[in-house]
Amino acid sequence: MDFRVDLGGLKLTNPIMTASGTFGYGLEFKPYGNLEELGAIVVKGLSLRPRQGNPMPRIVETPCGMLNAIGLQNIGVEKFLLEKLPLLPWKTTPVVVNLYAQSAEEFSDLTRVLSSEEGVGALEVNISCPNVKEGGLQFGQDPQAAFKVVNMLKKHAGSKPVIVKLSPNVADIKVIAKTVESAGADIISLINTIGGMAVDIHTRKPCITNVFGGLSGPAIKPVALKMVYEVCKTVKIPVIGLGGISNTQDILEFILVGASAVQIGTASFTRPDKVFTLVKDLRVKVEELGIKSWDEFRGSLRLG
Ligand SMILES: Cc1cc2nc3c(=O)[nH]c(=O)nc-3n(C[C@H](O)[C@H](O)[C@H](O)COP(=O)(O)O)c2cc1C
Repeated sequence: MDFRVDLGGLKLTNPIMTASGTFGYGLEFKPYGNLEELGAIVVKGLSLRPRQGNPMPRIVETPCGMLNAIGLQNIGVEKFLLEKLPLLPWKTTPVVVNLYAQSAEEFSDLTRVLSSEEGVGALEVNISCPNVKEGGLQFGQDPQAAFKVVNMLKKHAGSKPVIVKLSPNVADIKVIAKTVESAGADIISLINTIGGMAVDIHTRKPCITNVFGGLSGPAIKPVALKMVYEVCKTVKIPVIGLGGISNTQDILEFILVGASAVQIGTASFTRPDKVFTLVKDLRVKVEELGIKSWDEFRGSLRLG
């Protein structure tokens, strides 16, 4: 079967991408497999200037998942472009840069810097960040702010496809999906982590310094699947599904409900070679199930 997928301008040799924040800048995973075999490499969220992130502890394991409050630690866009991007196989595997900013203006500055870089395959906008200039509510929780930021970003993105990554921490995911589509998003990815908390009854302290964190891993898969299904029914642009994917069956479930591609996140913490083995295993699973093409299988869920 032809494994290629075309996400409206972003072309992948297979539907498996890495998820931002769980695959470093890609280079860290070179010892575990061939980066050129991946559908795409999505790097850690980058901001205009380097960020230290939150004080430790900032990760804790929870039943069937983990809670993190890294606080968007990163080396900053300049250092990434100078020291990391040239070493990535961007000519064969699209490198998707995940963006983090705290105002619409900061998002456009970042986009301007990245839009002229040949090695950047697409931009993924993390709208699960606080809009500090306008009250601190997350862009992804405020349809008006989300519209403004995506609209502005599209103006500076040039020919780079813009992926908007949705937060699941909203009352109705369909509203925000429709809004970012109308603002010009080329692709939607979802879900980011779900807000959560863990406490220790012995120390009587929160398990992570930030108190609250984002839940990820298999625990969130049913929530992610529902939201991906709802968004696929709502928008016409391609959707990338993620949240708790750890095996080939999970991947196919997301495609069955309508996703065009998937991202693998927390599973890379259980095994650093996970994403590479999934690429190989998916071929076997697809054959086993007699799937003929992605177009035939995608969104073919039978109701009743
Ligand atoms: C440690 C960690 C760091 C993350 N950093 C980012 C980030 O920088 N930008 C972003 O958009 N998502 C970030 N995420 C969210 C993941 O990309 C993904 O949306 C989420 O973990 C759900 O997928 P999973 O269950 O497969 O991990 C992070 C997740 C984890 C666990």
